Amino acid sequence: MIQNPYDRIKQRLARDGASVERPAGSPIIEAAHISREYRIGSDVVHAVQNVDLKVGRGRFITLVGRSGSGKTTLMNLLAGLDHPTSGQVFFEGRDMAAFSEKEFIELRRRRIGVVFQGFALLPLLSAYENVELPLRISGVSARERSDRTREVLEMVGLARRAKHRPFELSGGEQQRVSIARAVAMRPDVILADEPTGELDSVNAGAIFGLFRQMVATRDMTIVATTHDRTLLDMADEIYEIHDGSLSMRQSGRSAQPSAPTDTTRFRRPAPATQ
Ligand SMILES: Nc1ncnc2c1ncn2[C@@H]1O[C@H](COP(=O)(O)OP(=O)(O)O)[C@@H](O)[C@H]1O
Ligand SMILES: [Mg+2]
Repeated sequence: MIQNPYDRIKQRLARDGASVERPAGSPIIEAAHISREYRIGSDVVHAVQNVDLKVGRGRFITLVGRSGSGKTTLMNLLAGLDHPTSGQVFFEGRDMAAFSEKEFIELRRRRIGVVFQGFALLPLLSAYENVELPLRISGVSARERSDRTREVLEMVGLARRAKHRPFELSGGEQQRVSIARAVAMRPDVILADEPTGELDSVNAGAIFGLFRQMVATRDMTIVATTHDRTLLDMADEIYEIHDGSLSMRQSGRSAQPSAPTDTTRFRRPAPATQ
């Protein structure tokens, strides 16, 4: 029987006991009193309302909220893809609104990786090419592109789907390609918008296990939104978003994982049975 990797991580956490909490460090991204309103005719939607959030380096943060609560809007603001109606977003202490086009390209290329809710895969490219293209654009050598692309596809359990194009993959597989693409770039921060929305609980647990591992072993910072409450306790900090307002639900896990390498196995489709 396949053991749920999520259970294995929980067991590992429990076994390791209460280790020392990692210091939060200086925030890599900080939102200060940000709001985002959408105006449609005379209607105003307060999608994000006066949110303060410090994303500490090396933290794994989850934002949980129902559909329509403002998760995607907030993630786009944190990524600098959208600008707040009021308030400021700082990246390493600098107001993102002051970034030049060149700095912003650099930010997107090397510093912040985004996993979009809709995957944003290029339909004519294979899984392999979708992962490899941003590496090519940012000037990674051919050898390293190949190594990294293979590595991340293996990590998300899709090595054998490398040649498939998005339409030849299930929604969950496409989602894993989009996660692999962000991970391959080795950014400082990954902002992942509902990265497990299309996944079953086993694969969802494995993705969060992978995130945990990236934070522990590669010094990455991760912010992931989810509406799946069963995944929450894998994060260092949990925030709840409700009607655009953010509140902290929980800070710091009771234990620190030791980055087990066996947490990121993905379930293969079961062989067909009669
Ligand atoms: N481009 C837009 N124009 C107008 N309203 C929007 C737009 N994008 C989102 N909204 C509204 O803002 C609110 C938050 O949306 P969203 O951030 O997508 O929430 P979530 O990701 O949590 O489902 C919703 O009420 C949604 O209808
Ligand atoms: Mg959304």
